[in-house]
Amino acid sequence: MTRILVTGAGRGIGFELARQALDKGWEVVGSVRTKDAAKSLKERLPQITVLEFDVTDGKAIKQAARTLDGPVDILVNNAGVYGPRDFPIAEIDCDALQELYEINVISPVRIVQAFLKNVRASDSPRIVNISSRLGLTWVSAAGKTAYCSSKAALNRITQGMSEEFAGDGITCIAMHPGWVRTDMGGDAADEAPEESAAGILEVIGSAGFKDNGSFINFDGERWNW
Ligand SMILES: NC(=O)c1ccc[n+]([C@@H]2O[C@H](COP(=O)([O-])OP(=O)(O)OC[C@H]3O[C@@H](n4cnc5c(N)ncnc54)[C@H](OP(=O)(O)O)[C@@H]3O)[C@@H](O)[C@H]2O)c1
Repeated sequence: MTRILVTGAGRGIGFELARQALDKGWEVVGSVRTKDAAKSLKERLPQITVLEFDVTDGKAIKQAARTLDGPVDILVNNAGVYGPRDFPIAEIDCDALQELYEINVISPVRIVQAFLKNVRASDSPRIVNISSRLGLTWVSAAGKTAYCSSKAALNRITQGMSEEFAGDGITCIAMHPGWVRTDMGGDAADEAPEESAAGILEVIGSAGFKDNGSFINFDGERWNW
């Protein structure tokens, strides 16, 4: 049975990924960052295994990873924030920028480090970083430099992972989930979380080493970095 670990599983795209993965009959491990969120997630998805950590808290992540035995076939770094909206560089609050990078860029590395033993134990290991088309260098970042630069860095890290873990046979990809109607995406966004998550699960469910190092849209289309 496929086992998937999704960070930020309490709401938005992460919740939908967890819900639909359970519907597929997969074993699902989801992370949230508070006890209340853990209780709420367990009430909504009783079959889920919940881990509790803030993705910026290296110690808590390691502690959670110690409690998880066995393989993780698909590790999804989904938790993320938009950070300061429409931030002009001249006035940017560097503390807010640092917090954004901490969550969107450094945390996926922390998560991979902590759960690598589980991923390596899989027969079909995959690491999926939920990025954004806004991190692609050929898409304009005008007025959105903070978020775009964080996802651009995540993209480069994904490429690094795809090279460094190739010897382990781990398929590492970055994905754009679409512009999705979540707290982050807002009501005017194009896609429902259900459509986005269904597309992502279809892509990652069949992803194999031929896909290593790819940037893939939620509808399966490959894009240049
Ligand atoms: N929505 C879009 O249109 C869109 C487009 C492109 C890419 N994305 C990417 O898709 C991913 C999911 O976005 P979304 O739209 O589902 O966003 P969302 O509805 O705002 O949900 C964000 C998720 O990340 C979690 N999170 C944030 N900071 C965290 C931290 N420090 N520790 C642990 N968890 C944390 C949140 O947990 P809490 O509930 O505890 O806050 C929540 O589960 C993000 O990486 C985002 O950048 C989204």
